[in-house]
Amino acid sequence: MRKNIVAGNWKMNTVLEEGVELAANVNDALKGNKHNCDVVICVPATHLVPVNGVIDHETLGLGAENCSEHEAGAYTGEISAAMIASTGASYCIIGHSERRQYFGETDAQLIAKTRLALDNGLTPIFCVGEVLEQRENGTYNEVVKSQVEALFCLSSEDFAKVIVAYEPVWAIGTGKTATADQAQDMHANIRGAIREKYGEEIADATSILYGGSCKPANARELFSKPDVDGGLIGGAALKADSFIGIVEAFD
Ligand code: 13P
Repeated sequence: MRKNIVAGNWKMNTVLEEGVELAANVNDALKGNKHNCDVVICVPATHLVPVNGVIDHETLGLGAENCSEHEAGAYTGEISAAMIASTGASYCIIGHSERRQYFGETDAQLIAKTRLALDNGLTPIFCVGEVLEQRENGTYNEVVKSQVEALFCLSSEDFAKVIVAYEPVWAIGTGKTATADQAQDMHANIRGAIREKYGEEIADATSILYGGSCKPANARELFSKPDVDGGLIGGAALKADSFIGIVEAFD
């Protein structure tokens, strides 16, 4: 069966010392306790190597927040999937709505990033989600389905390695969470699209995470839904206590 996963996305927060301390605190709080989910932190690229040095990989997975669409070469300031993998990280968020919105990332770029992540042994956490206008005008199911379908050029073998994260843009950092029923409906829609393309087995094995103002107080209800396999956590991942509180929602 598919995995339950709680992943933190630190975004552009914490300087190095703070980030290393936060990672060590999360690792220590998890160590020795068996939880019913995998736990991952996706951290700024500058923090990957030192954070890798303070966490225990059996306890806590490590990921980046983005990677370049290019393999290598004259792309000043970019960070390749191979570079990320060489730090010891094993996950990479791709297509976060903030990257789509503020950096204009397109489906074609996101496919290139996903392929490079996979080629370098990284597990992509591929984000999809509608904006408020699309929620209000009723097009949200089609919008998100087409974002997921962008990945349908992948082989079954490759798609089976992808984690999908549904993050309604109107719920990110706003304190306005999707209701558990809204999340469930969308996750079922996403899983249905995967089933149509790749069949029952891959659809059933794909972890689909919810993100958007997820916190200890609402995680249990969200995660109780059959198609919600965990969370991608922003603000609440920046404090060890609240992040662990969300992990414990699976206990
Ligand atoms: P918040 O949990 O801060 O709403 O952010 C969600 C998110 O964007 C995670 O990727």
